Amino acid sequence: MFNNDDVIAVLRGVAGPDGRTPLPETGAISGISIRDGKVFVSIAVEPAQARGAEPMRAAAEAALRRLPGVAGASVVLTAERAPGAAPPARQPAHPASKGPGQEGVKRVIAVSSGKGGVGKSTTAANLAIGLARLGLKVGLLDADVFGPSVPKLFALDQRPETSPDGKTMIPLEKYGVQLMSIGFLIAQDQAVVWRGPMVMSAISQLLRDVAWGELDILVVDMPPGTGDVQLSLAQNAQLSGAIVVSTPQDLALIDARRGISMFNQVNVPILGVFENMSYFLCPHCGGRSEIFAHGGARAAAEKAGVPFLGEAPLDMAIREGSDDGRPVVATAPDSPQAAPYMALAEKVRDAVAAEAPKGPKISIG
Ligand SMILES: Nc1ncnc2c1ncn2[C@@H]1O[C@H](COP(=O)(O)OP(=O)(O)OP(=O)(O)O)[C@@H](O)[C@H]1O
Ligand SMILES: [Mg+2]
Repeated sequence: MFNNDDVIAVLRGVAGPDGRTPLPETGAISGISIRDGKVFVSIAVEPAQARGAEPMRAAAEAALRRLPGVAGASVVLTAERAPGAAPPARQPAHPASKGPGQEGVKRVIAVSSGKGGVGKSTTAANLAIGLARLGLKVGLLDADVFGPSVPKLFALDQRPETSPDGKTMIPLEKYGVQLMSIGFLIAQDQAVVWRGPMVMSAISQLLRDVAWGELDILVVDMPPGTGDVQLSLAQNAQLSGAIVVSTPQDLALIDARRGISMFNQVNVPILGVFENMSYFLCPHCGGRSEIFAHGGARAAAEKAGVPFLGEAPLDMAIREGSDDGRPVVATAPDSPQAAPYMALAEKVRDAVAAEAPKGPKISIG
C-alpha cells in the first residue's frame, strides 16, 4: 500500500502554480489524506494564480490515479486568506464542462438566504428529506463551502467513495437523500478561507465530479448572502428555481428582498419565500408566542409578487434535530414541527412538476 511519501513522490512530477517548480517544493500542498486506498489532496493557491490553476489540479489528480494501488484520487484547490487580505474581486463566470455525474439531474433548486443563520441549511435538509419521503429521487449539495453544514445535519463523517474509474465521487446517502459536501473532503476543523475563483472551482467540482445518478431534484444549500459567489452560482448552475429563507425580523426581510432581486437579475424563477423561526412553540406548555412580528415574510413575499411557502416555528426539537444529525422530518415526520417542511416539500414538488425540465441540466463555472 502506498503512503504520503509515495503521494509526494508522484506529485513531484507535476509543476506547481508557477508552472516550473515541482508541486511539493512550492509549499502549496495544504493537506494529504489517504483512506481505503483513496487519496485526497488539497492545494492552496494564490488568488492571482487561481484561474490558471485548474490544469495543475487536473494534472495532479491524473498523476495520482496512476499511482499503483490507488482506488481513487481527488484534488481540490483551497485558499487561506492572509490576515487583512482584500475580499475576492468580482470574477466573471467561466463555464465549466459538463461532467460525467450530472447527466441524470433533472432539476436544480437553490435554497438561499440574504442573511446567515436564518435556518437555510435546516430548511434545505428537511426539504430534501421531505421530497425523498414523497417518493422523489433527491440529492442535496452543500454549496456552502465557507461553512458546510451537511456533515453535521446528517451526522456523517466518512469520506465519499470514488467510482471504479476514479473519475467521480459517489455521494453518501442518508434518509433517502444523496449527499455531497465539501465538508466530507476537508477536515471539519481545518480553517479554510476560500477566495472567489477557488469557491467556484470547488463548487463546480462538487457538481461535475459527483456521480449523482438519476435525480428528480437536486437541492443546493447556498452560501448565505448575495455576494459575487452567490450571484455567480445562481447564474451558472442552471437553477430551475430558488427558495428564499428568511426570519421575520425587518433586517432579515431586507436581506430576503435582496435575495429575491438577485435571482430576478439572473432570471431564476423564485419558487417563494419560507419563513423560519416564525413563532415560538413552548416545549413545556405547547403554547405559541410571536416573538418577532410574525408574518413579515408573508408580507414581503406578497409585496414582491412571489409565493409564500409557509412558516416553521422556532422550536427546540427542530434545533436539536438539526444539531444532532437527526433532522425532524426524518425522525418525526408526522410531528407538528415537521409539518411545515413536509408542506414545503409538497409545494416544491408541485411547482417543479408544473414546468418542463430545462436543459442543459447544469453548467457551472
Ligand atoms: N426552526 C428552527 N427552530 C430552532 N432552531 C433552528 C430552526 N432552524 C434552524 N435552527 C437552528 O439555528 C441554527 C442555524 O441554522 P442553520 O445552520 O440551518 O442556518 P443557516 O441559515 O444555514 O446558517 P448559515 O448562514 O451559517 O449557513 C442551527 O443551530 C439550527 O439548529
Ligand atoms: Mg447553512
